[in-house]
Amino acid sequence: MTDQHPQNNSQVKPDWYGDVPMDAKPLQTSMMKQFISIKSKVPDALLLFRMGDFYEIFLEDAKKAAHALELNLTARNKKDDTPIPMAGIPYHALNNYMERLCSMGFKVALAEQEVDPNNPKLMTRILTRVVTPGMPWDSDGTDSRGSCWIAAICGTRNTGVAFLDTRTGALRVTEVEGPIDGWEEIKRMGASEVIVDTRLLSNEIIHTDLQKLSHSSKEPTFFDIRHGRMALKKQLNVDDLTGFGADKLRAGLGAIGALISYARDMAMLNLTHVNNVHVYSVRSQMALDESSLRNLEVLQPLRGADKKHTLLGIVDKTRTSMGGRLLRQWLSAPLIDIKRISSRHDAVEALLSPDLREPIRESLRSVGDLERLGAKLAQEKINPRELLALANSIFSLPLIMDSLSKESVFEGFLPQELPIAIADEICEYLQEDPPTAISEGGIIRQGINKELDEYTELSTNAKAKIMEMEATLREETGITSLKIKYNRVFGYFIEVTKVHKDKAPDTWMRKQTLVNAERFITPELKEFEEKVLSSTEKMRTLEHTIYVELRARLTKSVKKIQDCAYRVAIIDVLSNFAEIAVQYRYARPSVNDSMKLDIKAGRHPVLEQMDFDEVFVPNDVCMDKETNFLMLTGPNMGGKSTVMRQVALIVLLAQVGSFVPADSATIGLCDKIFVRVGASDDLARGRSTFMVEMGETALILNRATSRSLIMLDEIGRGTSTFDGLAIAWAVSEAIHNKLSARTIFATHYHELTTLADQSEHMKNCHVAVAQDQHRVVFLRELREGSCGQSFGIQCAQLAGMPKSVIRRAGSILKNLEKSDAGVGHINQMSIFDIQVEEEKIVEIPSYLTELEQELNQVDPNELSPFEALKFVYELRSLIQKQQ
Ligand SMILES: Nc1ncnc2c1ncn2[C@@H]1O[C@H](COP(=O)(O)OP(=O)(O)O)[C@@H](O)[C@H]1O
Ligand SMILES: [Mg+2]
Repeated sequence: MTDQHPQNNSQVKPDWYGDVPMDAKPLQTSMMKQFISIKSKVPDALLLFRMGDFYEIFLEDAKKAAHALELNLTARNKKDDTPIPMAGIPYHALNNYMERLCSMGFKVALAEQEVDPNNPKLMTRILTRVVTPGMPWDSDGTDSRGSCWIAAICGTRNTGVAFLDTRTGALRVTEVEGPIDGWEEIKRMGASEVIVDTRLLSNEIIHTDLQKLSHSSKEPTFFDIRHGRMALKKQLNVDDLTGFGADKLRAGLGAIGALISYARDMAMLNLTHVNNVHVYSVRSQMALDESSLRNLEVLQPLRGADKKHTLLGIVDKTRTSMGGRLLRQWLSAPLIDIKRISSRHDAVEALLSPDLREPIRESLRSVGDLERLGAKLAQEKINPRELLALANSIFSLPLIMDSLSKESVFEGFLPQELPIAIADEICEYLQEDPPTAISEGGIIRQGINKELDEYTELSTNAKAKIMEMEATLREETGITSLKIKYNRVFGYFIEVTKVHKDKAPDTWMRKQTLVNAERFITPELKEFEEKVLSSTEKMRTLEHTIYVELRARLTKSVKKIQDCAYRVAIIDVLSNFAEIAVQYRYARPSVNDSMKLDIKAGRHPVLEQMDFDEVFVPNDVCMDKETNFLMLTGPNMGGKSTVMRQVALIVLLAQVGSFVPADSATIGLCDKIFVRVGASDDLARGRSTFMVEMGETALILNRATSRSLIMLDEIGRGTSTFDGLAIAWAVSEAIHNKLSARTIFATHYHELTTLADQSEHMKNCHVAVAQDQHRVVFLRELREGSCGQSFGIQCAQLAGMPKSVIRRAGSILKNLEKSDAGVGHINQMSIFDIQVEEEKIVEIPSYLTELEQELNQVDPNELSPFEALKFVYELRSLIQKQQ
């Protein structure tokens, strides 16, 4: 469809024409032809077409945009048979509308107008930018705390995954074994858009996920490794990629090449700010799959709850945007290298001292978004106000670096040299409060350029200058009434009263004679006039030129600025950790290579900060090689899920480098954290929830190692009791017997407590409740041993269920407990027994079928007593034969 010629009627009409026929007369103007030709290059984007002071939108796009942005839908050539639907937005409001369209998920293309090189009288339009979810419009208003990644993934065995943040220029790449791992990484990073190798589309998971994600699929050649290598070398301006650790990459280079082509050729982005590539290995970070991140509510709340109620919401007190972005990245990629973890803890510990931390955090306040400012500088689209913000940010750095240089833990980390010279130069050039526009003047300081100073002075001091000239002329000629005046017809002129007209020098040229006065001009005066009148215009042009030159000069320092930005981000996050450690009373965890997990008085970082009637009750959790599996029972609402999540979050925070919400914590390094929640807690998702749950649980069994931390919350709940119990039982057994990973399994199947009694490394524990005659009181305490009953009915009572229903439930429960088929019976079964039982019931022995047939064939009323007796004998012998 992209390449189809719009005028060719034999082709199918693209749907962006709407009701308008392709050969409609109004579409034949040269302007509309331009529109159609550009639109057919980007058929799936809403095209904003610049015409004078407006961006016009035509055809179906106009209807969509008018609806989305509440614009007036009009028509070009209203009187025609086929009016062309049209809507417009004023050019100066572009930022605002662009942001709104992007936030609504539109892909938007921008065509700007310029003078046609072949015909200077004609305007022509060229496509200048395509904005997509992964390559958003970059205006100041956009939220910069989150990263916005566009990803590319390719390769079926060695799979390459690359990510680009077009706003900051950050480029990351990794290689993994196969598409599934690659896809998991894309989900973990939360990419907003993805370019997929068509060979991966047959993968069922990728195929399903793509339905909810903005994407484009490309043939394998688009991910050509050689092309990728060349594109990256060119991008980084190097002959050899070794310095970046990227020389050994293969599919990774293919993914990078795809990203660069796509961003540059399709979106028409200027990528001069992409100066580095971060090659990383997913093996050097903790494996935290997207499902675990979601279940732990690390970055996003479940079911659209308040964003503040996430781990990020609680622990993010960073002062800079790049710090905010880095914190997000760290939280979803904890470390698995004990040395690196400890060195982060050391840094946080040093920053606990208020004398160090407070001045640093205060200075960080005045550091702008160095990363994005640097990116804008590199692309030469930074405006004067932003440039000054860049300088001011740089001026805040020495204080930060000086204080840190006194601490030995930061040795080797601080930048060798700060780009102060750049900041000085910026301040030397720019006025104190420069505008955002670069064509309106008021940018450059006095003293930078003589000519400019003259223009500026002229345009601002023309009046004084005239008075000065007047005085000089009076003195020279002796005409005391001489005046210099101005009108629109003559411009500046000298006026002399009739009486003095003879005193006028010969060099003056007479311009006009009035009744009482004579008017003259002089070459000097005309020159002055010329200067004054054009000075404003010239001043603007010259300022623009000086600014653009300054900006171009400064681009040489972009790398230094980007390097500083990265270091400042780290300092911001580390001092943020120190800040929350102090504010929330967190303790330094000890992370070692044991198999221990010993948390004393641990708290849930998010819950403990929420306003509740009850105070948060801290809990101890201890696991080690001997006991690595806790079977956690207790009534609904007792606090099972909370305890589990708090353990996982404490481990996550510790390995990110933060202190943790506990009195103390010793953590044997965890290589992966898996958190799974039973299906009925997760109804919002599309696929059969039980299947999702099983799929995700299966993934744990395949991927977890003995170093992993597994949290299973009511797994098996999404199906009938027996199936659920059977699955829960089997999964527990498998983890216990085969994986020996540290695991907490929260369940309301009390039958599972028997499993714990029988298994060597498994221990029962429960969240305690106190019960008086009618009510339960949640104690929120984790205790050893199993919990006697589920208190479900008492919970219902707490929840306000009518008394009659509660009473009836109570009596049903008593009956169930009495009956043999109750809980006690199931306790004794292993999963295999259950299967055998079921088979017996299903398979009816053949002789019984025979008996049934025999009986059905006989009418008892027809039988004599003797025949009946004989028949009974026959039936008996049939049965006896079988036994
Ligand atoms: N340690 C605790 N201290 C205080 N309140 C708690 C604690 N643990 C849980 N809660 C409260 O109890 C509610 C239910 O806890 P939850 O862990 O979901 O229970 P369960 O999983 O056993 O049904 C939580 O939303 C919270 O309000
Ligand atoms: Mg729960």
